[in-house]
Amino acid sequence: MASDTKKVRYAVVGGGQISQQAFMPGVGQTDNSELAALVTGDPVKADKLAKKYGIKPWTYDQYGDMLKSGEIDVVYVATPNAHHTDLVVQALEAGIHVLLEKPMTSSVEDAEKVVEAQKASKAKLMIAYRLHHEPGTVEMFTRARNGDFGELRAFSSTFTQNVAEENSRGHNGYWGGPVPDMGTYPLNAVRNLFGEEPVSVHAVGTKASDRGFDFHDTVAVTLRFPDEKTAQFTVSYATAAAESFTLIGTKATIHATPCFMFGPKTGITYVEKTEDGEKTHAFDPVEQFGNETQYFSDCILNGRDPEADGEEGLMDMRVLAAVEKSLETGETVVLPPAKRAKRVSSDQALRLPPAKEPSEDEMISIVPQSK
Ligand SMILES: NC(=O)c1ccc[n+]([C@@H]2O[C@H](COP(=O)([O-])OP(=O)(O)OC[C@H]3O[C@@H](n4cnc5c(N)ncnc54)[C@H](OP(=O)(O)O)[C@@H]3O)[C@@H](O)[C@H]2O)c1
Repeated sequence: MASDTKKVRYAVVGGGQISQQAFMPGVGQTDNSELAALVTGDPVKADKLAKKYGIKPWTYDQYGDMLKSGEIDVVYVATPNAHHTDLVVQALEAGIHVLLEKPMTSSVEDAEKVVEAQKASKAKLMIAYRLHHEPGTVEMFTRARNGDFGELRAFSSTFTQNVAEENSRGHNGYWGGPVPDMGTYPLNAVRNLFGEEPVSVHAVGTKASDRGFDFHDTVAVTLRFPDEKTAQFTVSYATAAAESFTLIGTKATIHATPCFMFGPKTGITYVEKTEDGEKTHAFDPVEQFGNETQYFSDCILNGRDPEADGEEGLMDMRVLAAVEKSLETGETVVLPPAKRAKRVSSDQALRLPPAKEPSEDEMISIVPQSK
């Protein structure tokens, strides 16, 4: 990072829905980060979106030049999942830090390439798990692991929405579909609640006859964890929106909803039930994208390694790949035992106030996600 620059300078790579709706406005809520560039293949976005934020547009052909320009410190990679790997590896090789949208890639081999590229680089890599900085989620993770709910035995969750086939997620096979896109949320939640990695995976999927997806649009996944723990989640692109999870321990049950989404009106909430009664824990909406950016910039400015590093992304990726295999074979897939070196800690929770989101009409050349 240039020594005379106070704020960490971000280049947004891919001016799609999440960049325009959430990331670009969210950076404005931080006090240590700023937008500096937009990499886009769309000349209208290069003109209007770059102008709106007062930043420099670059094309994908100019990506290598931008990485060497000295004008940016970090790339935020928010292209469709199948286009993450090359952009990330190139940035890390050029010594540019990377904030990478989830899921980190669209194969375990690519995820391993990204991890290797980071190890060979001086630059940092963080996977954009925005909930790792959301106060309600961080409280549930840390309380669960501290034993507040007793021995943890079971987790179940639903995360669904009605996705348009025309959106990039709607026609790019399994890795563009609901398991990598939405299943990452319950999977990442249960891994962090249990503080353990699953040892076997089974999945069943269906394809709605009135929809045109090229993958199972509704998938139910069952996971076995060490120490006699189970987890189940269902994700779908072909139903009304739903989001919740239930975590069952020997002392308490917690039911969380909303638990995965973001936005100026979404405050993560959970109800804790014990034999003494029920208590609701409701959290104010926070700027989830600004929070993760503030945290990552702080890591960069202070020479710390971020918690949601490449290993965290890879731990989810190996399970997503096992779900794909189970859907293909109908078999249970056994995973080698794994241990995560880091876990989310309480001091990762941040409380930046939510940015104003642009409406769908204000966004440029978006193929709306929802039907
Ligand atoms: N953290 C979250 O809550 C969250 C939420 C939604 C999505 N995501 C993740 O963010 C990433 C982007 O999702 P999104 O919803 O923003 O997708 P999207 O609306 O389809 O936008 C992706 C953008 O990537 C660029 N792009 C580059 N190569 C492309 C190609 N070959 N085909 C299509 N687009 C290409 C395009 O921008 P230009 O026209 O500017 O080149 C496009 O607008 C995904 O990895 C997704 O999983 C995260």
